[in-house]
Amino acid sequence: MLKMIVTPPAGDPVAIDAQAGLSVMEVIRDAGFESLAALCGGCCSCATCHVYVDPAFADRLSPMSADEDALLDASDQREATSRLSCQIAFVPALDGLSVRIAPGD
Ligand code: FES
Repeated sequence: MLKMIVTPPAGDPVAIDAQAGLSVMEVIRDAGFESLAALCGGCCSCATCHVYVDPAFADRLSPMSADEDALLDASDQREATSRLSCQIAFVPALDGLSVRIAPGD
């Protein structure tokens, strides 16, 4: 089973099982992290699935669209490694991916 490491905004890292073919948001949501609201369900319209990605995985992520970039720009919490987790396809090359859930705006 593939793994992902998820750190809540105020908490310690947790290793969870991760299924390829889902989005990173779906993997986190299905593991029960309530701090990731993902209100739009993955339509790239709410930005409540904001995470900070370990830079070691940056070159393995699906590319950022202009819509995702614009939504992140509207967040006061944007950092260099910010992504919307619903826009990242979880693929086997991301085994061990480490993300931190961003605090809400
Ligand atoms: S779940 Fe709404 S933008 Fe990702």
